[in-house]
This record gives sequence, C-alpha cells and structure tokens, in this order.
Amino acid sequence: MFAAGFGEAFAEDAAPLVKVLVAYHSLSGNTERMAEAVVAGVKSVSGTEVLLKRVGKVTADDLFSADAVVVGSPVYWSNMSGEVKTFFDNWQFKFGVFPEFKMKNKIGAAFAVGGQVSSGKEVTMLTILAAMLGNQMIVVSGGGAFGASATTEGDSPGIDNQELADAKELGRRVAEIAARFKASSAK
Ligand SMILES: Cc1cc2nc3c(=O)[nH]c(=O)nc-3n(C[C@H](O)[C@H](O)[C@H](O)COP(=O)(O)O)c2cc1C
Repeated sequence: MFAAGFGEAFAEDAAPLVKVLVAYHSLSGNTERMAEAVVAGVKSVSGTEVLLKRVGKVTADDLFSADAVVVGSPVYWSNMSGEVKTFFDNWQFKFGVFPEFKMKNKIGAAFAVGGQVSSGKEVTMLTILAAMLGNQMIVVSGGGAFGASATTEGDSPGIDNQELADAKELGRRVAEIAARFKASSAK
C-alpha cells in the first residue's frame, strides 16, 4: 500500500469512500513516526483509504484523487523544511493547480516535529495550512490547536505516546470530516 499510488492501493477495494494522502518529509525518522500515527488514525475510520508518501514521491494522481491531504514537516529554522515548501511549489510547477484551483474543497491538515519546545512548530503548521488555504482547501486541526506536533530534543528526547496519540487523533478527525464532506457533496 505505502509504495503504490492510489489507483493500485485501492484496486482491491470496489468502492473506496474517502481517500486520504499523508505526505511528509523526514531526515532522521521523527516526522515519519508521526506520519505513521496519522495513518493509524485515518484507518480507524471505516470506509477510508490512506496513502503514505514522502513529499518528493507524490504524483499528480496521488494529489488529485485524494479527498484529504495531511502534510507533515520537521521544523527547519522555525518553518517548514525546504523539501515541504518545494512540494507545495511543485503543486504549480509539476501539477499545474492554478488557475483552476484543482485542490479546491479538499480537506487539508498539518503536523510538525521540532527539536525544541518553542522554536517554530506552530509557525510550521500554520505555513502549511496557509499554502492549503491559498489553494482554496478546507483546513482542519486535530490533536492540537493547529494540528499535531512533537518535540524531539532537550528535555523531550524523542516522540512520546501522547504525541503519537495526538497524531492519530489528527488522522481520525481528518478522515471523519472528509467522509462527512464527501457524503454531503454527493447529495
Ligand atoms: C537545518 C535544521 C534546522 C532546524 N531548525 C529547527 C528549529 O528552528 N526549531 C526546532 O525546534 N527544531 C529545529 N531543527 C530540529 C528538527 O526539527 C528535529 O531534529 C526534528 O526531530 C527532525 O525531524 P526528522 O527526524 O523527521 O527529520 C532543525 C533541524 C535541522 C536539520
């Protein structure tokens, strides 16, 4: 499932209700652990399919066939990492989202992992959400005021169970809202 595109991932399921793409960047594995917890939360909602991919591997089909997109980044200099920013820039350069606003009305959410307690996690989540808002997506939170987050250095050496639970809650909430929105749009 994780290496395949949505088409392959959903081939076994006749009628997937809601598709959630979880896209992330991670160098030392922390953001990847949070991404996996987000995936677990999505899976906890029945009728939902999830695709986990590094931002650089996401295809146009992954992006456009998703009903919801959750993006996670490590904090780099109090903001999203360059890889994640490039991912958003490529929505235009590679996938041509504008001027049609091809991501319009998809559900969006964010999560972030930083070394320090207060050194950019909220900015990172808000700039991810800002990129989504610029694409006329519908952004939601979960697991925290702006999304789920974790601290990995200093007095907090590694992601703890509460932070993983927050990430799972984010995935659950995104899937539930996406399912409700898709069901109401189909009427
Ligand atoms: C270039 C660089 C800049 C960083 N800047 C920050 C920062 O501004 N604030 C912060 O809290 N952590 C910062 N960090 C620490 C990372 O966010 C932290 O180690 C995180 O757990 C890495 O996630 P990963 O394991 O998914 O790669 C920085 C790390 C790097 C490599």
